[in-house]
Amino acid sequence: MVDKKRILIPGGAGYIGSHVVLCCLLTRRYKVTVIENYSNSFGTALERVEKIALDALPADAPQADRDACKIDVIQGDMRDRATFKKAFQKYSGADAIYAIILTAALKSVGESSSKPIEYYEVNTSGLIGMLAEMKEAGCGRLIYSSSATVYGTPKTIPIPESSPMQAESVYGRTKQIAELIIKDVCDGHPDFFRSISLRYFNPAGAHPSGLIGEDPRGKPGNLLPLLAQMAVGKYREPGLKVFGNDYPTPDGTCVRDYIHIMDLAGGHVNALDAVDDDSKFHDVTTPGKFKAYNLGKGKGLSVLNMIEAMRKVSGYEYPYEIVGRRLGDVPDLTADPSLAEKELGFKAKYSLDDMSRDTWNWQSKNPKGYDTE
Ligand code: WQD
Repeated sequence: MVDKKRILIPGGAGYIGSHVVLCCLLTRRYKVTVIENYSNSFGTALERVEKIALDALPADAPQADRDACKIDVIQGDMRDRATFKKAFQKYSGADAIYAIILTAALKSVGESSSKPIEYYEVNTSGLIGMLAEMKEAGCGRLIYSSSATVYGTPKTIPIPESSPMQAESVYGRTKQIAELIIKDVCDGHPDFFRSISLRYFNPAGAHPSGLIGEDPRGKPGNLLPLLAQMAVGKYREPGLKVFGNDYPTPDGTCVRDYIHIMDLAGGHVNALDAVDDDSKFHDVTTPGKFKAYNLGKGKGLSVLNMIEAMRKVSGYEYPYEIVGRRLGDVPDLTADPSLAEKELGFKAKYSLDDMSRDTWNWQSKNPKGYDTE
């Protein structure tokens, strides 16, 4: 049997991170160490990931597979290089860290304009410290969580990866700058660093078990968790505000490419498989091995479409009010996912009905979220 490779996942208890950890474990090819400061996440999520991964094993699975479902957690902060040093020193030989999947970040568009220093500190300075520690430790593989928001207001829909990066918020710029930093580091050390950046469109849904899902601390700013928490009665006041219905879209509300979180998380396993394959970088014109891919479904849905989808599964008739546009929103962010399909073998399989069903399944089974700490 081939040794399982150890993956380090900063931010692994968060909404995206926990599903990524799960997808790694479900392959039975990886073991996982998480770095967490729990600033917007809960330890319970990782306990439940372990349970789902164990339950998915066949009855006759070897003990090594059971052992690998145990997630090692290092409590620490992305901004502290010592956290990464500690992680790299902890494992050696066949157990040395094979790759990092970086899902830790501050990620609120609205908040980022009032906390630019914090956003740059975590999302860019923290990244530089991590890259320096990777170099020192001899670990050169990185899968990076980027965002569709780097495209700003794109000229063409669906958006290909070749669209220029022109982010319009502080948060978006931290992701755009992070991609440039990683690319420069790959170019500067072409025989050592290699990286795949995944530009997420709008993640939605939860693992179908309903054991893990999205549970932001405080009132949700994003549409799906807000709709879920409204339906379950956690937030009802001051009611739902739809930010603008005068966009050049079919119903006037913004269009986004919602993608099931299990599809999105699975894309990281595709990226891990691809990152060591030189042929994936054949068309890169600079010396390094850096490439960005869209993770989307390629189907645009409006705010009103999402409200209707959540009404259908929850039975809650959302009272809503149309208000002015939200600063930083763009009319349409729909991915062209064909490059990831062709080169990574990535395909988003879950439908809108799956996304709304699983969002509701998670929220109705966990009306207060993880709330166990
Ligand atoms: C979706 C639509 C709102 C709340 C952000 C990031 C992006 C990615 C996902 C991570 C928009 C509308 C929302 C509300 C509304 N994540 N809306 N009323 O802004 O598309 O994407 O999260 O990194 O990078 O930019 O997601 O869920 O906030 O909004 O009308 O109360 O719902 O205007 O059109 P967004 P969202």
